[in-house]
Amino acid sequence: MLRNFLIGLIIICVTQVQAQTQDTKSDSYRMKSYVDALMKKMTLDEKIGQLNLLTPGGAVATGEVVSSGVESKIKAGSVGGLFGVIGVDKIKKAQELAVNGSRLHIPLIFGSDVIHGYKTTFPIPLGLSCSWDTAMIERSARIAATEATADGLSWVFSPMVDIARDPRWGRIAEGAGEDPYLGSKVARAMVKGYQGNDLSANNTLMACVKHYALYGAAEAGRDYNTTDMSRIKMYEYYLPPYKAAVEAGVGSVMSSFNEVDAIPATANKFLMTDVLRKQWGFKGFVVTDYTAINEMIDHGMGDLQTVSALALKAGIDMDMVGEGFLTTLKKSLKEGKVTLQQIETACRRILEAKYKLGLFDDPYRYCNTARASKEVLSADKMQAAREFAEHSFILLKNNNQTLPLKKSATIALIGPLANNKNNMLGTWAVSGDPQFSVPVLDGIKNIVGSSVNVLYAKGANITDDTVLAKKINVFGERVDIDKRSPQELINEAVNTANNANVVVAVIGEASEMSGESASRSDIGLPENQKELLKALVKTGKPLVLVIMSGRPLTLSWESEIATSILQVWFPGHEAGNAIADVLFGNYNPSGKTTISFPRNVGQIPIYYNHKNTGRPLTGDAWQKFRSDYLDVSNTPLYPFGYGLSYTTFSYGDIILSTNNPKGNQSITATARVTNTGKYTGEEVVQLYISDPVASVTRSVKDLKGFKKIMLQPGESKEVSFTITTEDLKFYNTDLQHIWEPGEFIIQIGTNSQDVKSATINWRK
Ligand code: NOJ
Repeated sequence: MLRNFLIGLIIICVTQVQAQTQDTKSDSYRMKSYVDALMKKMTLDEKIGQLNLLTPGGAVATGEVVSSGVESKIKAGSVGGLFGVIGVDKIKKAQELAVNGSRLHIPLIFGSDVIHGYKTTFPIPLGLSCSWDTAMIERSARIAATEATADGLSWVFSPMVDIARDPRWGRIAEGAGEDPYLGSKVARAMVKGYQGNDLSANNTLMACVKHYALYGAAEAGRDYNTTDMSRIKMYEYYLPPYKAAVEAGVGSVMSSFNEVDAIPATANKFLMTDVLRKQWGFKGFVVTDYTAINEMIDHGMGDLQTVSALALKAGIDMDMVGEGFLTTLKKSLKEGKVTLQQIETACRRILEAKYKLGLFDDPYRYCNTARASKEVLSADKMQAAREFAEHSFILLKNNNQTLPLKKSATIALIGPLANNKNNMLGTWAVSGDPQFSVPVLDGIKNIVGSSVNVLYAKGANITDDTVLAKKINVFGERVDIDKRSPQELINEAVNTANNANVVVAVIGEASEMSGESASRSDIGLPENQKELLKALVKTGKPLVLVIMSGRPLTLSWESEIATSILQVWFPGHEAGNAIADVLFGNYNPSGKTTISFPRNVGQIPIYYNHKNTGRPLTGDAWQKFRSDYLDVSNTPLYPFGYGLSYTTFSYGDIILSTNNPKGNQSITATARVTNTGKYTGEEVVQLYISDPVASVTRSVKDLKGFKKIMLQPGESKEVSFTITTEDLKFYNTDLQHIWEPGEFIIQIGTNSQDVKSATINWRK
């Protein structure tokens, strides 16, 4: 009886699996047949046309070139996609040109830089990552996709997953910080958020992971600069987030501007074909970054025809803006420099993307004005923006429990960013309208009404340097230099401070002091803002700093003179409300930094997962013939994973399920975390593992897990992590991903430095 039942069950299961396999097969079979039939009708020119991505201008151009003659090129079948076209009406018009005006009616794909929200703007990605809340980050991408698709878009140039250890690099603002484990989780969450489960749904769109690869390791933090690193470092620390995005099913990849191993990424066959397609099994298409093919002429790789052929042969499918493919591939084919198959493979991948998005079924699937008016900038999205912002802030210092502020005092709100709309969105908010931003002054008034007396003074310009201001103001006025002299501004601020119980200074960078082509060699507060702070300190009032920036600034001096510091990055549209919520305790800050804060620029690159060296410093004091500096300590000002709360947490010792695991057994490591303070709060409990002896040198520790928990005052929770041999693996000199038996130190704690430890011996 039982036997027959089991056999029956097995038959049902097998049939179901077969049916499912046939179904998936038939999906891809249908796509292949469709694309095959279409490609049979296409001329060579039309096939090359699909590889051409243009931007007609009018939006933000990130290079010197803006496409021309776009309309006639679309009608001629010489364009595969457009970006920088915003709004249903414009997108619909452009789509009509392709669908009605071109011979084969092939629809265009419409992309955009939707980086941290679309029109509703969320905190910059570095800020979002500091929430360590991957479900929330996924939701931010889901909301952005809903809004962007309602407005006509089908493709976003996000997530940016470049690991960065150098805050001089302005684009550090766009990523998830320095750690590959967290970076990979964020990459997966964002791809899932954008793409959902069904790419052809009208509220999901295709993600594009960028900038492949190693763009964040530009030498000296200078944008577009050379990258050079060992394969082990590449595989261990820089490639994982791109790989994670591929594993999550990302539909497209963008090549980076930099070179890798003396070959620009855009012509780098090792990256584009060997790693991306052969090792990771990527099936989507690869687009270059803005004119990256043409830029290979300046890299010294040859003329436009040569570099275009190199890119195609390396595995690039789509050429952004440069038109190298459009203007030279036919000639290269005739001369035997590329093959027809190479052109056809690229064309097929782009047509497949359009097929997956459902554009052949309905090219206007994303063009619905009713949806646009309902979804764009809707109240629920703004509410989410406020929540995301609150979760991205980091409390760096809080002496005497100055924060949260009492809702009954007189507050002097001072600083160039305190009553400012133009800088709240941060870099790469190309569709966000700064006019909808909530300034901090308004946010505070919204929260406290008339119970708090708020006195405001600007105090300083963001910078007094007119030459710098001009460079920063390229996309609109971010720095406005006051007609009053710096001293007049300071005098007014000091008078204001003298009439208050507490000073809140909202200071930092302008939004365009980070982002693309915004590297800085000195990442401190602009000198004139420091002058303001010096004057405010002299008033003797408690001084709360709210710091806006797209990178960790060097804050050694500020960390000594301030009573409290709240790092808020660029919080997005709801900046003022979110900052006020946190300042007055409506939300207890829970962010932890995903990037180390250097003490000074000379420490850079500084990151928690560094190597030990053969002469490590033992303790904090300077030692001769040890790896250290004469003039600064080795440690960062605030380490990776650091962030305070209005409450306090204590950690119990680690309890292991065993100290002597064997083979592929998994173990659990548990720590009891207690809220020892007076406020309900969230804590990001972090797991690190060290591998002190291995066949290659290892970093001092690596993040291998984290959990964000909420605790009431006095409440305790046991937080457990499962550890398997996957968590012990590293790349050896043959680039095999292996683990080796021996001793490992398991660490659980509140940041990368402050941890409890337990040792295990893992046998083969
Ligand atoms: C250049 C940037 O590097 C890239 O991130 C962006 O997606 C493209 N321009 C398109 O705007």
